[in-house]
Amino acid sequence: MNILITGGSGFIGSHLSEKLLINGENKLFLLDNLLTGNINNIAHLEKDRVIFIEHDVQDHIEIDEKIDFVFHFASAASPVAYTEHPVNTLKAGSIGTINTLGLAKKHNAEYFLASTSEVYGDPLITPQTEEYWGNVNPNGERSMYDEAKRFAEAATATYARTYNIKTKIVRIFNTYGPRMQLNDGRVVTNLIVQALNNEDITIYGDGSQTRSFSYVDDTVAGILALMESDKYDVFNIGNPNEMSIKELSSVILKLTESKSKLIYKDLPNDDPKQRKPDITKAKENLNWEPKVDLESGLTLTIDWIKKELAK
Ligand SMILES: NC(=O)c1ccc[n+]([C@@H]2O[C@H](COP(=O)([O-])OP(=O)(O)OC[C@H]3O[C@@H](n4cnc5c(N)ncnc54)[C@H](O)[C@@H]3O)[C@@H](O)[C@H]2O)c1
Repeated sequence: MNILITGGSGFIGSHLSEKLLINGENKLFLLDNLLTGNINNIAHLEKDRVIFIEHDVQDHIEIDEKIDFVFHFASAASPVAYTEHPVNTLKAGSIGTINTLGLAKKHNAEYFLASTSEVYGDPLITPQTEEYWGNVNPNGERSMYDEAKRFAEAATATYARTYNIKTKIVRIFNTYGPRMQLNDGRVVTNLIVQALNNEDITIYGDGSQTRSFSYVDDTVAGILALMESDKYDVFNIGNPNEMSIKELSSVILKLTESKSKLIYKDLPNDDPKQRKPDITKAKENLNWEPKVDLESGLTLTIDWIKKELAK
């Protein structure tokens, strides 16, 4: 298959590319504007079967070769990145989704959208099932990201209904692992870097807000299970092992043998109080569930970050 991955040089995109290349028949077109991605993330991939295209998804996309499958993963993904690039984020989710859907339509390709647990906003039910419509501030400080992703879902569903394109949507919950950017404010990398440097560990609010963390290999396995299935539908992919940010910081302090102390700062606006995926639908339909426990995933991530910091 010829597979286009927008955001292909990013964190999840690069891990997905690696796994897709295991099938010797696949050729990848990785389209990325390098806003938050890094060409080093894909430098190790087999050159003959990977074409890198430096391009912004908000601009029209033409690919001469026949494309069989489109993954739309391009978007700033962390609060720091989307706050720094608000208009690009809005356009990647809206115009970028329309552009990539148009390409899928033209090539008669299957389409796969990376959506997010952010579409549930600050959820009023827990755990969140795919049927829940969310509790999102439509013009708040995160709206360039979460409302753009909600629009992206609407666009994907509309193209599927109107043009009979085969589409799949994955709502990814917090994912961590090697190749995350170290300075983009995501909680796992933030805490590990501070702990390894024995700096104060910043906790926003009182640390009782909860998240659930999925190791990147598990998230990518869920994405591939959906890709390979005959389910043209929406699925939560994440790890339901919910914990408070304070609990997460204690595990990281233990694994890094750090002497850091916790300090508390104000909670950002619209920060969700809880996040926990209900993955029953993925378990039953895709025969997928996460396998990597938190300590193992964090240990692999800490080892990678140690090497990055030593560079
Ligand atoms: N990592 C997570 O926990 C998580 C959770 C939910 C959803 N997601 C979604 O998964 C996707 C990948 O996220 P990630 O964590 O790998 O982030 P990332 O920042 O590492 O990857 C995003 C990639 O998209 C590229 N990009 C951004 N805007 C672009 C544009 N306008 N045109 C072309 N390329 C552009 C970036 O350069 C980067 O390579 C995103 O769509 C994100 O919303 C991620």
